[in-house]
Amino acid sequence: MTLELRHITKQFPGVLANDDVNLTVAEGEIVALLGENGAGKTTLMNILYGLYTPTSGEVLVDGEPLTLGSPAEAIDAGIGMVHQHFMLVPVFTVSENVILGDEPTREAGWLDMKRARKRVKEISSQYNLDVDPNAMTEDLPVGIQQRVEIIKVLERQARFVIFDEPTSVLTPMEVEGFFDIVRGLKADGKGIVFISHKLGEALELADRIVIMRRGKTVAEVLPSEVDEEKLAELMVGRPVELTVKKEEAQPGEVVLSVSNLIALDDRNQRAVNGVSLDVRAGEIVGIAGVQGNGQTELVEAITGLRQSLGGSITLAGKDITTDSPRAIHKQDVAHVPEDRQKSGLVLPFTVTENIVLDSYYENPISRGVQMHWDEAEERAERLVEEYDVRTPSTDTLVANLSGGNQQKVIVAREFDRDVTLVIASQPTRGIDVGSIEYIHSRIVEERDSGSAVLIVSSELDEIMALSDRIVVMYEGEVAGEFDGSASTTDVGLAMLGSSDTEAAAGTGGP
Ligand SMILES: Nc1ncnc2c1ncn2[C@@H]1O[C@H](COP(=O)(O)OP(=O)(O)O)[C@@H](O)[C@H]1O
Ligand SMILES: [Mg+2]
Repeated sequence: MTLELRHITKQFPGVLANDDVNLTVAEGEIVALLGENGAGKTTLMNILYGLYTPTSGEVLVDGEPLTLGSPAEAIDAGIGMVHQHFMLVPVFTVSENVILGDEPTREAGWLDMKRARKRVKEISSQYNLDVDPNAMTEDLPVGIQQRVEIIKVLERQARFVIFDEPTSVLTPMEVEGFFDIVRGLKADGKGIVFISHKLGEALELADRIVIMRRGKTVAEVLPSEVDEEKLAELMVGRPVELTVKKEEAQPGEVVLSVSNLIALDDRNQRAVNGVSLDVRAGEIVGIAGVQGNGQTELVEAITGLRQSLGGSITLAGKDITTDSPRAIHKQDVAHVPEDRQKSGLVLPFTVTENIVLDSYYENPISRGVQMHWDEAEERAERLVEEYDVRTPSTDTLVANLSGGNQQKVIVAREFDRDVTLVIASQPTRGIDVGSIEYIHSRIVEERDSGSAVLIVSSELDEIMALSDRIVVMYEGEVAGEFDGSASTTDVGLAMLGSSDTEAAAGTGGP
């Protein structure tokens, strides 16, 4: 049994997303499709799944061509897809979601929920998915929702399963569990396409790695023949620096000082419980921690997006505890928010509009009651060039850019002025190595030009690579403080709340 894509080309207005692509997947084989954001991976898989009609080319299952542009036929041919953004209905139970669109009926068209639940149970136990058929979908962690999508695909008898960036929403532990599931599918004879931009994952999981760059498949390799450096080079088209290059920090005056800060989360629980920390000019302080230990709320409190309940925040000696987000922004604070699509960008706006999002009301773009779009346009053109934003034009909607390029739009907007403090949350989440290298080097440049930099990341590797000092948060408190040369193991232990680490300065409070 094989699935084969032959000479697939897809032309979007202005973008050749797929350019004569060939790919085969056999049963019991895991093929990793590796490529930077925007390389054309999702487009290719959407063609395979019948969501897009290709400009030319064909898809064959066991040598039989499919009518392209018909998901129903793709499903009939045994092709299943787990999308990058899940397509589940939050207020449905697991079983309801699984049978949605493929409802088993009893006589007279009655829905057979009992049979649906039984099927979910069977599939769940066959592949060790551990999913409760009666659970309400919205209550489930993302990792489990993903398994619901997998059950949905298996329930439709898929012989080939496509996963589009499945690990980008998972924690390191969940990734291991996910890999076990995929290996189980392989053992059962399924052919797998695993889309990723993470080099280590492709090396670990795949039998074969196909690399796409700018719409073309540029290489096909075996994991045993390559290492991460080689893969990165094939992906980006030039050698990539996988480690961050920086000199010893030269810390100056304290710029940001947080003292005994208390803040609640959206459920009114104390998410930040007496946190104190300083960030000096010319240093990068990294906040490490498993997601959900108060980091998000801490950053929101510092940037004025969340009210604090106690404690104080000063910026260059001035109390900003109760300042508005705009007032804080105006005091030369750059903020790269955690969720670029929710709070960093306005997706249905153009690149230009997003670039001036925080300055449209100021001179020179706004003078009196007049908007000067030519000024905005000029700034956007300059930043697109300077920050290497890959976009057809500055009039393109940011919704149509890849994640890495969306992130560069935010970084460009935030860094293109004299800032004293940079706060960057998950600065490289879900983006490709080329963009990661670029954004990391811009962050180090900010430090070297004298800014104080606070980084929050749930990727420990990123914290270790960038930080001059590391603060670990656990359950709303500072659980440890380390210098940049600390071992990953020590920091990792503190992230789990191990009390065996040196206590941080000033966490005790008055
Ligand atoms: N519906 C669309 N209309 C126009 N351009 C698109 C559309 N979908 C994707 N593109 C463009 O096609 C290219 C490939 O995108 P995509 O397949 O999503 O890449 P990947 O999944 O590798 O990140 C990108 O330049 C993207 O902006
Ligand atoms: Mg994609």
